[in-house]
Amino acid sequence: MNICMIGTGYVGLVAGTCLSDFGQNVTCVDIDETKIAQLNNGEVPIYEFGLGDLIAKNVKLGRLRFSTDLEKIVDQSLVIFLAVGTPESEDGSADLSVLYQVVKQIAGCMNDYKVLVTKSTVPVGTADEIRRLMRENLKHDVEFDVVSNPEFLREGSAVGDFLHPDRVILGSDSERALAIMRDIYRPLYLLDTPIVCTGNATAELIKYAANTILALKISYINEIANVCDLVGADVYQVATAIGKDRRIGPKFLHPGPGYGGSCFPKDVKSIVHVANSAGYDFRIAKSIIEVNAAQRQRVVDKARTAIGSFEGKTVCLLGLAFKPNTDDVREAPALFIAEKLKAEGATIRAFDPVAMTEARKQVPDIVYCNDAYGAAEGADMIMIVTEWNEFRDLDFERLKKATPIPVIYDTRNIYKPEKVRALGFQYLSTGRP
Ligand SMILES: NC(=O)c1ccc[n+]([C@@H]2O[C@H](COP(=O)([O-])OP(=O)(O)OC[C@H]3O[C@@H](n4cnc5c(N)ncnc54)[C@H](O)[C@@H]3O)[C@@H](O)[C@H]2O)c1
Repeated sequence: MNICMIGTGYVGLVAGTCLSDFGQNVTCVDIDETKIAQLNNGEVPIYEFGLGDLIAKNVKLGRLRFSTDLEKIVDQSLVIFLAVGTPESEDGSADLSVLYQVVKQIAGCMNDYKVLVTKSTVPVGTADEIRRLMRENLKHDVEFDVVSNPEFLREGSAVGDFLHPDRVILGSDSERALAIMRDIYRPLYLLDTPIVCTGNATAELIKYAANTILALKISYINEIANVCDLVGADVYQVATAIGKDRRIGPKFLHPGPGYGGSCFPKDVKSIVHVANSAGYDFRIAKSIIEVNAAQRQRVVDKARTAIGSFEGKTVCLLGLAFKPNTDDVREAPALFIAEKLKAEGATIRAFDPVAMTEARKQVPDIVYCNDAYGAAEGADMIMIVTEWNEFRDLDFERLKKATPIPVIYDTRNIYKPEKVRALGFQYLSTGRP
């Protein structure tokens, strides 16, 4: 089967590559000529574990291609996945302008039946709007179907997540389209992956409902951590104990500087907007947004309390990506912290194993260093903001020599307080006495 994947970002490139690994002929299309040129050159434009090898394998087998020629690839394909960005608009709703522009382009060049699949995260009602736009812009009188197939992969483990998902959601009222989609995901049937078929609106809402409850768990444990800070309890023990309850589960109960990334922030805002447009005030989702914003600020305030003032101080930030194992810095807490500290007169020295190129585009005026020890040079405080594995085993003797006053703020609780304090550091963490 010929498949066209439009949008070759974190989702489109991974999904397209994995579908080609399932045995389909996939062409990934992007408007970004540099990205497509890189891919055609054997380079991988994003950092994602295992992706490079899988791309190379499937390109070699002739099942995976890259192109900027949307019209030509659409014409050759039976199934067209839409994986372009759906960022936040000013009013908090999802900005679907790129998605709808691509839909109009597709309508203008379709000569026979095709299935349009939304992989992008889109609000309820998008499939209906796509149908309307298609009908309005079709050049030829051909049939089409729209399937809502939200994606749940996590950056940092995206390939594994796509190849071994917890479930696949297929939203459509067309048996013809569903049969084609089941065929695409056939290798997952063999792994007993649940394939959940729903209407379009339900599929669209499932994705937002999933991200909102994950964001809720993060905000919830952050608030518990804040209470722990005030009453002298230990959030690690609280989270471990409540996580043993199978009704709660241990995942997403790690406190820190708040969630970031390209999904949770915009998706929680979007569900508030979706509900609001339907006449419902989604109070829990609104609280999640508020708690998350306060958590980032709380980290800044706690750091300031520890060192008096940021004026004229040097702060070392370890980790810039919004989470480990990715180069994605969209909405990363570290960049928020860097901006705040700079505004209060601090000099920032930073290191991230892979995200510095991306971070530099957003925050050019900080000192980017070659490793954690270089970043700690002369720093009044070392803040661990992203829990990369390589920060879990730092050489504290080396760090101590690099800093005039040894203060460590471990926002992700990756160290045992007593161990770091025994080494002569002032140690702060999140929700632990
Ligand atoms: N990143 C994630 O972890 C994740 C997980 C699940 C779902 N999603 C959703 O998937 C969607 C894509 O997210 P992403 O992180 O991959 O975005 P991204 O920004 O990494 O990629 C989007 C790509 O679309 C391309 N593009 C823009 N306009 C185009 C056009 N007119 N024609 C062709 N290509 C065009 C861009 O150049 C870019 O390469 C979003 O809706 C997001 O919410 C993301």
